[in-house]
Amino acid sequence: GTNQSWGGRFSEPTDAFVERFTASVDFDQRLALHDIQGSIAHATMLARVEVLTDEERDAIIEGLAEIRGEIEAGTFEWSVALEDVHMNIEARLTEKIGITGKKLHTGRSRNDQVATDIRLFLRDEIDKVSAELARLREGLITLADREADTIMPGFTHLQTAQPVTFGHHLLAWQEMIARDHERLLDCRRRVNVMPLGAAALAGTTYPIDRHVTAELLGFERPAENSLDAVSDRDFAIEFTAFSSILLMHLSRMSEELVLWTSAQFAFVDLPDRFCTGSSIMPQKKNPDVPELVRGKTGRVYGHLIGLLTLMKSQPLAYNKDNQEDKEPLFDTLDTVKGCLRAFADMVPAIEPRKTSMTEAARRGFSTATDLADYLVRKGVAFRDAHEIVGQSVAFGLREGKDLSEMTLEELRQFSATIEADVFDVLTLEGSVAARNHIGGTAPDQVRAAAQRARDALATL
Ligand code: ARG
Repeated sequence: GTNQSWGGRFSEPTDAFVERFTASVDFDQRLALHDIQGSIAHATMLARVEVLTDEERDAIIEGLAEIRGEIEAGTFEWSVALEDVHMNIEARLTEKIGITGKKLHTGRSRNDQVATDIRLFLRDEIDKVSAELARLREGLITLADREADTIMPGFTHLQTAQPVTFGHHLLAWQEMIARDHERLLDCRRRVNVMPLGAAALAGTTYPIDRHVTAELLGFERPAENSLDAVSDRDFAIEFTAFSSILLMHLSRMSEELVLWTSAQFAFVDLPDRFCTGSSIMPQKKNPDVPELVRGKTGRVYGHLIGLLTLMKSQPLAYNKDNQEDKEPLFDTLDTVKGCLRAFADMVPAIEPRKTSMTEAARRGFSTATDLADYLVRKGVAFRDAHEIVGQSVAFGLREGKDLSEMTLEELRQFSATIEADVFDVLTLEGSVAARNHIGGTAPDQVRAAAQRARDALATL
């Protein structure tokens, strides 16, 4: 045998390159504190069912607590020869408490251990991500409420369509993020299931009590099937899918911020602390934060495809392939947390340039639909109204005049139905106020929607 923990049946030591190639400790040490948490619960359960004595349990728990201290202090010495986080910690435990340390692994395998560690770790991380999502939503709702009366052009095909309120636009963002938040909390339910007890794949011959371990670790329940428990990583895929959709949304928001901060749009300003300059062009102030969020979206999509591909052909149950689940998951988490923090910090600091937004809404004939609706109310069929307004717009384009800038006589060239009351509907304020139903852009509706969004957030 060799001196490896599994070396009994081996007649020569592992090739030095293979040892490095198969090791995961450089990255899976990030699971260390959750590995210890899982081991303490496992040892506690083993004592409860009298597989360990109370003294053995106490020695194990004390040893693990000391190791946790070493890891937190940064004095723990990780060894590539010990392959992964699990064997590093177990070897150190045995170094500290002797033979009792070797009993910790009774009724357990690294297969159910690693699956448990990732779930415990991810559950904690999900709670952090959830708090950041709540902070971002809060910022959007507050800004939307404040900007319920601010008028901007709404776009389709990025061409001026109809006036909307800035508050309404911000609440559209909030809806996207609220759905992402729901997806995350739904994902958490499936993360929160305990693999321990599945052992290598078939379960264990010891009289374990999985309900005890699950309860100690705050899991909803033990996993139903041992083969599935050790091999399933779809919970990690699901988190990465949530992340991809979230970043798709943040990327859309980013794109709008990049457009809006340009001199050509000039709809908003971002404070200097969220921007950077150019090393050659002294006048520049670049929206780097939204640009980078837009860019980082791609790497998370990549991790989603990477994890799906990692799993797609694996036969049951555990395969070493699964060691490759960690780096994409960790990087997804780091990316999502960074992007969310940037957005949650930045959103409350967005400075709307109201005059410039309203001016833009005034250009581009954004009240043309209102004029058509006005004609319909006076008895004109909608298709005819559409044609009449189309001709008015063509006239306006030739003369360089918005609809609201035309005289009554000018407007009446196209339809004698038009009367002096037309000017009420041609104002931007009249246009948005008229869209006065749930989900509409009227300022009162925006304020009511902001209140409902705030209530939904409070009941989370
Ligand atoms: N480092 C391994 C992983 O991340 C732990 C489980 C190893 N199990 C095994 N039978 N080799 O997947």
